[in-house]
Amino acid sequence: MSETLRDMMQVKGLFFTYPNMDEPALKNIDLPIRERRITALIGPSGCGKSTLLRALNRIHDLYPGCRYEGEINLMRLDGSGYENILAWKKENELIQLRQRVGMIFQKPTPFPMSIYDNVAYGLKIQGIKKQSELDDRVEQALRDAALWDEVKDSLNRDARGLSGGQQQRLCIARSVALSQR
Ligand SMILES: Nc1ncnc2c1ncn2[C@@H]1O[C@H](COP(=O)(O)OP(=O)(O)OP(=O)(O)O)[C@@H](O)[C@H]1O
Ligand SMILES: [Mg+2]
Repeated sequence: MSETLRDMMQVKGLFFTYPNMDEPALKNIDLPIRERRITALIGPSGCGKSTLLRALNRIHDLYPGCRYEGEINLMRLDGSGYENILAWKKENELIQLRQRVGMIFQKPTPFPMSIYDNVAYGLKIQGIKKQSELDDRVEQALRDAALWDEVKDSLNRDARGLSGGQQQRLCIARSVALSQR
């Protein structure tokens, strides 16, 4: 049976220019991103893959002077339609955007804290305080990232002591911990 998948995001006519650059790094990009599907970007070095990914949660905006034109439409949480995230200006809107559109970098970036606290960090920001709920969500995220068995006896160890591959999976766990199930 075929199912109709909606677009979770729709990039439309997107141009992106880095600060102090004349030429846009992204020119007239159109890209639908379907829900519950994996979308892969393939292209030569320097063609703009990372630039596009970083536009999708406005992480570029941590540096002033970036210019966007066009639309990046994100489905509302209740599924009732789309909002153009390029119109969002307020700091709390951008924080909420980054809670929905997670990003895992090529180079692992664990926070300087314990394995447990790395995964619990975003959940605490979301307002989860109950210890048993935090424990459950941390365990589930670590299981989803295929790291649980390796760290379940050392959750209080500094995350920076993990191997590179383990740090990468920890960053995945930290990101998926925030997704609604
Ligand atoms: N901070 C920046 N300021 C100015 N130009 C930049 C900046 N970062 C990237 N660029 C330029 O934007 C273009 C796209 O770079 P980007 O990093 O998105 O490529 P990529 O497709 O991810 O490449 P790779 O496969 O090597 O990771 C390149 O020409 C690059 O030089
Ligand atoms: Mg890249």
